[in-house]
Amino acid sequence: MERSAIITGSSSGLGLEITKFLIESGYTVFGGSRSGTEYEHENFYDVELDITSEESVAEFFETVREFTPTINLAINNAGICEMAPLSETTLEQFESHLATNTVGPFLLFKHLESFLIQNETHIISILSTAAQYGYPNVSAYNASKFGQLGMISSLKKEWKDYKIRFTNLFPGAIDTPLWDKVGTKFSRDKMLKINEFMSVFGFVVNAPSTIQFPELTFLHREGFLE
Ligand SMILES: NC(=O)c1ccc[n+]([C@@H]2O[C@H](COP(=O)([O-])OP(=O)(O)OC[C@H]3O[C@@H](n4cnc5c(N)ncnc54)[C@H](OP(=O)(O)O)[C@@H]3O)[C@@H](O)[C@H]2O)c1
Repeated sequence: MERSAIITGSSSGLGLEITKFLIESGYTVFGGSRSGTEYEHENFYDVELDITSEESVAEFFETVREFTPTINLAINNAGICEMAPLSETTLEQFESHLATNTVGPFLLFKHLESFLIQNETHIISILSTAAQYGYPNVSAYNASKFGQLGMISSLKKEWKDYKIRFTNLFPGAIDTPLWDKVGTKFSRDKMLKINEFMSVFGFVVNAPSTIQFPELTFLHREGFLE
């Protein structure tokens, strides 16, 4: 296997498009999600994964290890988002955001370490402008993404001797199935399209291996949605 990639949340939205892009770019891709996808390719492994469960994350990496001992590219993408004023947000909703968007990436990185390649592995996290900027009615999402960024900031220092690349993407709103579940009042015309997101993602992935993007914020020219 020449180049291997893992991605969480490969069943929908950005994760599915990134998966197809990486396959077309020559990677072997191990994608993890709970529901899986109908997309098929000989170099795509659709692996069951619940990012909130350490047992499931460990099993995901056991499957990867059957095929490769190392990972060139890791895409930390899976995430959930619901909207509600803080006073109407249930404890269960708040905790599920933390479990998926903060604890999930923690488990991913913990089990990823033994696959890292010195001077080589590139870790790309799909954060959000909500990891940098407070929006109304998404306190749980904001907290979980700020928390994820804090965890990555610490880990980058712990793993500095590996000399791997950490790229953090902070996109604004993108028109994906995520918004069908949110049921928003916001106009999709003020969101980036998936192909626009992919133009930035492709640039980042194909950049020379000496380059990382510690903080890349990009959004629709209409500005922040709020
Ligand atoms: N769309 C936007 O406006 C936007 C903007 C900025 C950042 N982002 C971020 O981009 C990432 C992808 O979002 P999207 O817009 O592509 O959303 P999406 O279409 O709803 O896809 C979310 C993906 O995450 C996976 N996922 C959710 N919970 C999971 C779990 N417990 N275990 C494993 N996988 C899980 C889902 O798979 P299953 O349900 O099959 O498990 C799905 O593949 C998220 O981190 C999101 O916060 C999105």
